[in-house]
Amino acid sequence: LTGANDAEVPFLDPYPDDLQAHREELYQQGPVTPVELPGGVRAWATTHHAAAKATLNDPRFVKDPHQWADFQNGKVSQDWPYMGVLTFDGINMLGLDGAPHRRMRRLTAHPFSARRVERLRPHIERITDEYLDALDKRAHEPLDLKKEFSFRVPITVIGELYGVPEEEYDKLGDLYAPLFFVDTDPGEHLDLYAQIYQYFTELVARKKADLDAHDDFTTDLLRSTGEGEEPLTEGEVIVTLLMVVAAGHETTVNLINNVVRALLNHPEEHARLRAGELTWEQVIEETLRYNPPNNAILFRFATEDVPMGEVTISKGDALVTHYGAITKDREEYGEDVHVFDPSRTKGRHISFGYGPHMCPGAPLARLEAGIVLRKLFARFPDLRLAVPDRELENEAALIVNSLKEFPVLLRP
Ligand code: HEM
Repeated sequence: LTGANDAEVPFLDPYPDDLQAHREELYQQGPVTPVELPGGVRAWATTHHAAAKATLNDPRFVKDPHQWADFQNGKVSQDWPYMGVLTFDGINMLGLDGAPHRRMRRLTAHPFSARRVERLRPHIERITDEYLDALDKRAHEPLDLKKEFSFRVPITVIGELYGVPEEEYDKLGDLYAPLFFVDTDPGEHLDLYAQIYQYFTELVARKKADLDAHDDFTTDLLRSTGEGEEPLTEGEVIVTLLMVVAAGHETTVNLINNVVRALLNHPEEHARLRAGELTWEQVIEETLRYNPPNNAILFRFATEDVPMGEVTISKGDALVTHYGAITKDREEYGEDVHVFDPSRTKGRHISFGYGPHMCPGAPLARLEAGIVLRKLFARFPDLRLAVPDRELENEAALIVNSLKEFPVLLRP
């Protein structure tokens, strides 16, 4: 990496002691800084808002891992633990560039649209009520809100979205749960991936057998058409289903947890919300800014030398978008970046990404978070943490910003 001075290269730590301090340190190194990832892998990271936006919207940075010099020359090997987040299959939209990517986005635009996901509202309401009813009986004892509620509701919503039979929701959740975390064995990862692939192959076959009988995301994808586009192949549908759970589940879990946590730690803001001085939408958007569900998105690769301020990102270098560091951007949000302020008017977060890969699941994530959080606090208005906030631990994960456990008392 040009311009990288070894002594000063910050380490992207999957186990930071202090997440906020880690974000601040990376922000201070920005706007673009060389970083080291676990396993001694080198990359650049954008840690300022404007630099991140510029690279996310620049066709000289691509997703195709074949463009990565350190992978091509063998410095990084296939068994590097984060290899699994790179897509080599050439059919997964998260890893596609240019025209093939645009085709996938056009063919999936309708199933992801706000109008289409709005149909899920009554289902999300029912699912949330059912989980809250079950929790009601245990409201006086400490419980892990993540395990019992915030993890379960979104996987059930995805099950409902996909048209998965209800008795299989838990199976779907259990298959995905260990996928994100570095302390899962590499062999276990491959095995889980194979099981998930098999599961969706069977689901697609079931739906395909009678397309007219179903009205769900899976069927929408199988029927996808676009003007002058080749429809999605069966393989593309399977990979899309696989990837959407990976992209959309843990992120939604984290958004729900992070909003609850922010409100419990900011009683004044919580009181303003209750008094109607703040809206749920403001609270959700500020949480996306203040403590986003994603930490660092790996990777994009430079297809030519790209000068950025004082450094040059060389052809073949890898680039990380550091959403955690971007939360600290003074230029975008003002000097009070450390403050949780839902009435903030300065700045616009990019926690759903920016440019051609911008998250198509944002309407669903926002709809779901809005319903789930309103209902949770309506049922348990005195909900509080069961341990001091400083005892909450994050999962060892570079990419997502996930709590390990979230012990709460629903009705103290
Ligand atoms: C892509 C964030 C929920 C589906 C992305 C990206 C971000 C993101 C930052 C861009 C990644 C990149 O540039 O490489 C989030 C956050 C969520 C969320 C913060 C929740 C709060 C969802 C949900 C779904 C979803 C619920 C599906 C129902 C996707 C897909 C992509 C994506 C399919 C790939 C798009 C592409 O490559 O063109 N998301 N996401 N996401 N997200 Fe989300």
